[in-house]
Amino acid sequence: MTYSKIPISQINPDAMVPADIYLKLNDKFVKFKNAGENLTVEKYDTFMSKGIQFLYVAEKDFPKFEAWLNDKSAQEIEAFVTRAGEEGREAFKDVKKLEEFVYEVFSDQELNLEKIDQLQSNVQDFVEKMRSNSQYSQALSMMVGRSNSIASHSIAVGNLAVYISMSLGNAHQFALENIYLAAIFHDYGKMKIPEEILKNPDHIDYTDHMLNHPDNSVQIIRKSKGIPEQVIKMIQEHHEYWDGSGYPKGLKGESIYKNSPILCLANELEEYLHTHKNLSDVERFQGAIELVQDGGATKWPPSFYPRIIEALNLGFISQRGLED
Ligand SMILES: [Fe+2]
Repeated sequence: MTYSKIPISQINPDAMVPADIYLKLNDKFVKFKNAGENLTVEKYDTFMSKGIQFLYVAEKDFPKFEAWLNDKSAQEIEAFVTRAGEEGREAFKDVKKLEEFVYEVFSDQELNLEKIDQLQSNVQDFVEKMRSNSQYSQALSMMVGRSNSIASHSIAVGNLAVYISMSLGNAHQFALENIYLAAIFHDYGKMKIPEEILKNPDHIDYTDHMLNHPDNSVQIIRKSKGIPEQVIKMIQEHHEYWDGSGYPKGLKGESIYKNSPILCLANELEEYLHTHKNLSDVERFQGAIELVQDGGATKWPPSFYPRIIEALNLGFISQRGLED
């Protein structure tokens, strides 16, 4: 039997599949679901975390499957338009296109400048669209009122986190939105820290306040309804390191939620770039990349490497024409 492959980004996880579905494991096709069964969101999450990008159907079932996909996608668009209004139609179609593009990038072995350009403009589009998200705008206006520096840091972390996720092949709209929201909220808890302590690392209470800020952020966020649990997890874990040396819980490896390291890395990158504004651009970006490279042994999962370094080199250095 021959098989046709389908990017998982095209398949809505919570739907009854119209044909038998196969996985390709060690070059063998293994039946995974019978026609009429559900993929379920949990399975879908597992696929994404394991880097499985494609499901397969028998070639003879492909036309039926494709028709079903088109139908589903039309239904999804209509459902979205009913919720968000006609003006959201084109934006939603773009989101679907974006998912497919990111999956394509991910399934390619090599990144190149053209793809990085495209990825970066996708990040911009994505961020632009997030501005109309009400949770996002509420959070931001509150933060800007309290602390401009935390607000601008959070926005910058959000952009980097989305770029990093996309370069790692994380394309699902829901996941990207969650990562972005988590980035915006991650240091909320710092707003509780009195200014004189926040600005003075030598202060006797500084370390305590720092160790508590992820918990404090979560406490505040939990008060607003409708924040997805994944967002809460990422905020809670944005200073946890792969080898267990982070805080507040010292979580290790797989016990850290799979997208938390993305936020952790984006946060450190942004901090580095922000505090090294005295350096030339090329030195600053190189330093930031070295920081990520050095953290590979301890801070971030091995699955980030070498892809993340490649994406940062191309995005920070080559794309800006900074290499000598
Ligand atoms: Fe933080």
